[in-house]
Amino acid sequence: MRREQHMQPTRIQRKPAEDPIERLKACLGKTADVRSPKDAEEPILDASVRASLFQWMAEIRAAEELKSVGVKPRTNALLFGPPGCGKTTLAHHFAARLGLPMVVVGSEHLIAGILGASGQNVAKLFDGLAAAETPVVLFMDEVEAVGASRSGRTGGQCDDEKNSALTVLLRKMEEFNVGYFMAATNLPDGIDPAFWRRFNMQIGIALPGFQERFAIIKRYGMPFAFDDDDLDLLAEATDGASPALLRELMEGVKRTLVVRPRMNLPIDDPCTIFASVLSATMPPPEMEVPKLWRNADTVKGLSAMSWPPQRMGDQA
Ligand SMILES: Nc1ncnc2c1ncn2[C@@H]1O[C@H](COP(=O)(O)OP(=O)(O)OP(=O)(O)O)[C@@H](O)[C@H]1O
Ligand SMILES: [Mg+2]
Repeated sequence: MRREQHMQPTRIQRKPAEDPIERLKACLGKTADVRSPKDAEEPILDASVRASLFQWMAEIRAAEELKSVGVKPRTNALLFGPPGCGKTTLAHHFAARLGLPMVVVGSEHLIAGILGASGQNVAKLFDGLAAAETPVVLFMDEVEAVGASRSGRTGGQCDDEKNSALTVLLRKMEEFNVGYFMAATNLPDGIDPAFWRRFNMQIGIALPGFQERFAIIKRYGMPFAFDDDDLDLLAEATDGASPALLRELMEGVKRTLVVRPRMNLPIDDPCTIFASVLSATMPPPEMEVPKLWRNADTVKGLSAMSWPPQRMGDQA
């Protein structure tokens, strides 16, 4: 009898655990976007940047042990470098490795048209994060919008607005204790020195070197398997290209390989395929133009590639 009572279904319905992403969205409103760890991709980075991140993650995992020697893991980093090299991707991946949501704040969230509202936006963001009580990686993009050097400002209304936003940000950064804070900028030279010093780490994410370009081209060429010699050729011809541009290039090649046969056009010449992609894919104006884009002989040199590339898993 007693046993049967035990087997009665319980009448107390537990509330399902609240989704931290939904909770953050509710607390943050329009002050930020929230990205889930499951949507993150791993960036391909040079060894020194990878080493800095591994060390940081190891510190976070060793927090208790560090406490025993009187130090804490670092909590913030400033990422700087040219566009499209993986600053946002890296922050998202770092969050995912820690199993945390990433809260993304762009300049559009912070800088307000109404006088005095930018500082309030910054305060609202940090208050929302404190209210959510959920650990996050806070990622502030284009941080020069608030963190530009105060000495270069001329004292107009717009400068006053930025000064007050930066003052609030510096204060809120000190108080922030619900996770990790990363900020990113393409303009490190213009960053306010006090703001720069406030970060535990300043990590430069530069244009990829040869090895990284090789790996990036290979990744975004998949599911086509390019020969290593062909990847060498492409990595050599794309010196100066950002990972974002390499992704565009390789995705363009894949689209062209799929679409041209449907248009009754041949795909048997690599130079034609690449030339058609290159004509519609240009590096951003402020960046150096890699050889593949500016030198017709480099494109002709692609005729040496094994072509067409095989899909992985297909018989040669
Ligand atoms: N290091 C990398 N490895 C692999 N893919 C990358 C890398 N960097 C960038 N990408 C690809 O390029 C896209 C744009 O990159 P991302 O937004 O991370 O660059 P960013 O440095 O934040 O640029 P911005 O300064 O313009 O904000 C990403 O979606 C990613 O697919
Ligand atoms: Mg970015």
